[in-house]
Parts: sequence; structure tokens; C-alpha cells
Amino acid sequence: MYDYKNNEDIEKILVDAESIGKRVKELALQIDKDYADKRLVMVGILKGSFIFFGDLVRNLTIPAEIEFMKVSSYGSGTVSSGELKVSLDIAREDLSECDLLVVEDIIDSGKTLSKLVPYLAKRARSVRTCTLLDKPDRREVDLSTDYCGFVIPDEFVVGYGLDYGEKYRTLPDVCVLSPKVYS
Ligand code: IMP
Ligand code: MG
Repeated sequence: MYDYKNNEDIEKILVDAESIGKRVKELALQIDKDYADKRLVMVGILKGSFIFFGDLVRNLTIPAEIEFMKVSSYGSGTVSSGELKVSLDIAREDLSECDLLVVEDIIDSGKTLSKLVPYLAKRARSVRTCTLLDKPDRREVDLSTDYCGFVIPDEFVVGYGLDYGEKYRTLPDVCVLSPKVYS
């Protein structure tokens, strides 16, 4: 167990592991119902969603196929560049009979998903989105998600897969990063 109280980079725990676990089960139950008669392909957006994605798919009871994409709009800073760069795409060619559920770690400006969804919608039968966290105060484009774990205030968070400069992903809780780390 990490000692966040003695880690001066971490300001506080925002969403603890137990609350995340409960919410993930609820989301999986809803996805189970909504996709019972569909061909569900879960699309994890690397790297930030990897833990959420793993927990979510393990709680599904319906059959699901797994794909990953790597898209970036952030670099190593905390402000989105607005450019969608697809550095790993879904390998298979034909998605025309697939119902994609894109799984993100967090929606901030909304730029990444607002570019990614139309890109995938051209190829698949349907595309919906699922995010662990949503920071609506930071939205720059009109975007809503189909499944959301938690709506959070405008703070930079790390842990449970989320990073700052590739650090802190392995923390079990979603934590607020101390602004002194990046300012
Ligand atoms: P958007 O395009 O601004 O919505 O950016 C979404 C992406 O920015 C996420 O997938 C994260 O990789 C990153 N991001 C945004 N806010 C945070 C944060 O608070 N912590 C860590 N990563 C973040
Ligand atoms: Mg991300």
C-alpha cells in the first residue's frame, strides 16, 4: 500500500478504490443490459484507461471482444493540443457489424473523444463512449458520454491508470496531484 499521506506530490484522495470498485460494477451491469443483443467490442484507449478497462471487462457477463487504441492529444503537459494523433489503431479491417464501446480514463476538453468518435463511426455499426471520470468545467467542445463513472471538479488527477508525465498510474485511488508538481 502506498503512503499517500507522506507523498508530497499527492494533495488528497478524490475517489477511493472502494468507491471506484462499486461504480465499475454498476457500469458493467448497465452495459450488460444495453448490449445483450449486440456485438460488443470494448475499445480501451491506452494508456490511461488500462486499469479501468481491465476492471470493467472483468465485471461484464455478456460476451465482449477486446481492442485497444492509442490516441494522444496531451504530450507530457497538462493542456490539450487539440490534435488527434492515432498511434495505435484497431487492427481488424471490418467493423461494420461491431458495436464499439470506447473506454476512456477522463474527459477534459472533450477534444480527443469528439475527434475519435466520428473517426470510428465511419467504420462501425455503432459507437458509444464510457469514461471513468468527467471534468465538465473544462469542456471546450459539445460532447456528452453514454456511461460515466464520476463527475469531478476541475483538478488534475492521477492514479488508477491516470498519469502525469508517466508517473503515478499505479496508485489504487484517483488522487489530486499537488499543483506544485506541474506549476
Ligand atoms: P481531452 O481531449 O481534453 O478531453 O483530454 C482527454 C485526455 O487528457 C485524457 O484521456 C487524459 O489522457 C488527459 N487528461 C485530462 N485531464 C487529466 C487529468 O486530470 N489527469 C490525467 N490525465 C488527464
Ligand atoms: Mg487518455
